Amino acid sequence: MALTIRPFRDQDEPAVVALWRIAFPSEPKRNDPLAIIRRKRDRQPELFLVGEIDNRVVATVVAGYDGYRGWVYHVAVADDARRSGYGRAMMAAVEERLRALGCPKLNLQINRSNAEVVAFYEALGYLVEDRISMGKELS
Ligand SMILES: CC(C)(COP(=O)(O)OP(=O)(O)OC[C@H]1O[C@@H](n2cnc3c(N)ncnc32)[C@H](O)[C@@H]1OP(=O)(O)O)[C@@H](O)C(=O)NCCC(=O)NCCS
Repeated sequence: MALTIRPFRDQDEPAVVALWRIAFPSEPKRNDPLAIIRRKRDRQPELFLVGEIDNRVVATVVAGYDGYRGWVYHVAVADDARRSGYGRAMMAAVEERLRALGCPKLNLQINRSNAEVVAFYEALGYLVEDRISMGKELS
């Protein structure tokens, strides 16, 4: 069935929260779905996409471009809609938008506990790069 991809709207909030709670069950507190949605509403909201089928939100992707790199987060497809090409379609849609903004490269991180998802991104042309990923809590 065809996936309709469009920017997030406020009324999608309950469906997106429900999808993320299942797709990302052990997220840190800063990744509380409502907090992410609230922050993203004010910053490049056009790079927060949902995919729907028959008016049901079944997929998401959140991205940002800071003028140097693009980053992608929260690529998720509902359990019962997986392996139908929707994840691929969401990534293609966000890549197209980032390309249009002049973004030269897109990065993403995968939790080590979720390493099986590497095969998904490799199928889309992403490479595992020789980097050490670091981060710091700011709040
Ligand atoms: C990762 C995820 C978004 C993939 O969505 P999807 O709609 O099932 O992916 P697609 O159907 O578009 O898959 C495209 C290709 O990726 C590969 N692929 C997808 N899921 C895969 C998996 N679990 N294992 C191995 N390869 C996979 C396949 O090559 C697939 O092509 P195929 O359908 O011809 O086999 C989905 O499994 C998901 O939401 N997972 C939980 C959330 C998550 O971990 N997100 C990533 C955080 S970094």
